[in-house]
Amino acid sequence: MTFDKYSQYYDLFYDNKSYREEVNFVVDVINSHLNGNFDSLLDIGCGSGNHARYLASFFESITGVDRSDSMVKVANEKNIPNFKALEADVCSFNLGLTFGSAIALFHVFSYLNTNDQVLTAFTNVNNHLSVGGLFIFDVWNTATVYNQPPQVKVRREKMGLKKVVRITKPKLDVISNTVDVQFDFIIHDNYECIEFSELHRMRHYSPPEIELFCWKTGFEVIKSCDMISGAPLSQDTFSATYILRKIKEL
Ligand SMILES: C[S@@+](CC[C@H](N)C(=O)[O-])C[C@H]1O[C@@H](n2cnc3c(N)ncnc32)[C@H](O)[C@@H]1O
Repeated sequence: MTFDKYSQYYDLFYDNKSYREEVNFVVDVINSHLNGNFDSLLDIGCGSGNHARYLASFFESITGVDRSDSMVKVANEKNIPNFKALEADVCSFNLGLTFGSAIALFHVFSYLNTNDQVLTAFTNVNNHLSVGGLFIFDVWNTATVYNQPPQVKVRREKMGLKKVVRITKPKLDVISNTVDVQFDFIIHDNYECIEFSELHRMRHYSPPEIELFCWKTGFEVIKSCDMISGAPLSQDTFSATYILRKIKEL
């Protein structure tokens, strides 16, 4: 399962990600498109709770769901106020609750590889939102994957006395709209060397595909853009951000 062992090193590699700026984006969207309704938020694929950390002061309650039990554990150990993470898969969950808005940030929906999974996930998100509720998410952008194909990368970090190396090896499959990303970890801890690998299959999406999924599952696209700059999508937008509104019950 993805993020099993990776979860222990996740924050080490994403410490510098623009979580605060992304949260500012979410807050601005809710202010301008949902009259500042900050009652309840569903954080899908909440991971280690890094968005919730900054969102907690805005929302009365945040429920995180993630299919990785180890990520859920990391998130709950942070004891973020107004936030609780649960182990659940967006393709099969039913909390029996309705939220004012939902987010799935940092490529959560790119982990859904088949149309069947995507349709089921959108349907489940619809079932957890009030009519008029917003769903904000970002995914890999097809145009950018072909314009700037992902490359092999090596990152070296220190975690106390541990030296952690992560090698990222992407492999494009042009037929299935996916990229197989192999993460190889090498960890030197004193005299011990631990190695493990994870394969993450990432789907990329084009705007017309997202429109079609919305049309089938009771959403409309209000806006698509780059989350940090706000610029319209282009062949240089790696993470395509979409703001959807639930327009009907299914
Ligand atoms: C790149 S991480 C992003 C985590 C967090 N949102 C963040 O921004 O740091 C992707 C997350 O999506 C979760 N995920 C992937 N597929 C999922 C699914 N089908 N249902 C729920 N969570 C899923 C993974 O376990 C992982 O925690």
